[in-house]
Amino acid sequence: MKAIIPVAGVGTRLRPHTFSHPKVLLNVAGKPIIGHIMDKLIDAGIDEAIVIVGYLGNMVEEWLRKNYSIRFTFVNQSERLGLAHALWMCKPHVKKDEPLFIILGDTIFDVDLQAVLKSPVSSLGVHEVKDPRRFGVAVTENGKILKLVEKPDEPVSNLAIVGLYFLLHSEGLFSSIDHIIENEMKTKGEYQLTDALQLMIEQGEIFTTFAVEGWYDCGKPETLLSTNKTLLLENQPGTKQYPGCIINDPVFIAKNASVENAIIGPNATIGEHAVVSDAIIRDSIIGNDARVSHIMIDHSIVGNNASISGNPHEINIGDYSEIRVR
Ligand code: G1P
Repeated sequence: MKAIIPVAGVGTRLRPHTFSHPKVLLNVAGKPIIGHIMDKLIDAGIDEAIVIVGYLGNMVEEWLRKNYSIRFTFVNQSERLGLAHALWMCKPHVKKDEPLFIILGDTIFDVDLQAVLKSPVSSLGVHEVKDPRRFGVAVTENGKILKLVEKPDEPVSNLAIVGLYFLLHSEGLFSSIDHIIENEMKTKGEYQLTDALQLMIEQGEIFTTFAVEGWYDCGKPETLLSTNKTLLLENQPGTKQYPGCIINDPVFIAKNASVENAIIGPNATIGEHAVVSDAIIRDSIIGNDARVSHIMIDHSIVGNNASISGNPHEINIGDYSEIRVR
């Protein structure tokens, strides 16, 4: 089955890291966000992916082609007119009426995808949230979706749409998107997938929901770090011991990273070829090729190729960087 993965977002809330890297290539628990998604999709039998790229899209394409051998099509989203518009650009690459699985590229999830892809009707991943105003929501009755509303101002449901969509009939999706674009039906200034799906419901398509309990946000530094912690705890990679170091699991240390005279963890990810010495690192992500020494780091993200040493009295660090001296 084919998956469509929109990953065109700029990731402004994750600056400065997203100045030089697309958000989906940021490392969390030992691999890029998109790597976690791809591994789950491939395990569930997805053998083809259409990836909607935009900002720094060539880096995403290069990484995916290097690391996965399934068939990829890359579609460039040049105009930012909304998720429905991004999907509409995939229409030439989808066969008439083949089923589709759409997954938003910043959604790391834990769900039985094989079961979802066998569903006899279209189905959307949902998760109960306290404040649904920043999500699309589903109003349901006995598991069936009656109505979908994008980012409702008035509370109509607490079931947020998390970004996993199994659609049995792609043709219905594309004709609904055609309709909302032709009639300029925008919500919050954009062509919304939620609105296209609502139109499908009005035209008789049956939708159910599936519960997504494991739903890990990576949109902001603090959620990237909490997702790092959760995934490290779940996957416990069985870290090797490093002479002269104390390793407090869970941690991920890339095989080719160098770690000397350090206390690592808990909840630390050390990227490829990173060099860490005389340091204490916990609840942090250290990027590929970063160099960290003579320092204690907590709740921090150190970018790829960044270098930091000593107490941060004297520093030279880029725009949007955040330093907390406690
Ligand atoms: C998009 C969808 C929204 C969904 C959300 C999940 O919104 O439009 O329906 O609930 O993803 O993260 P965005 O976060 O792009 O504003």
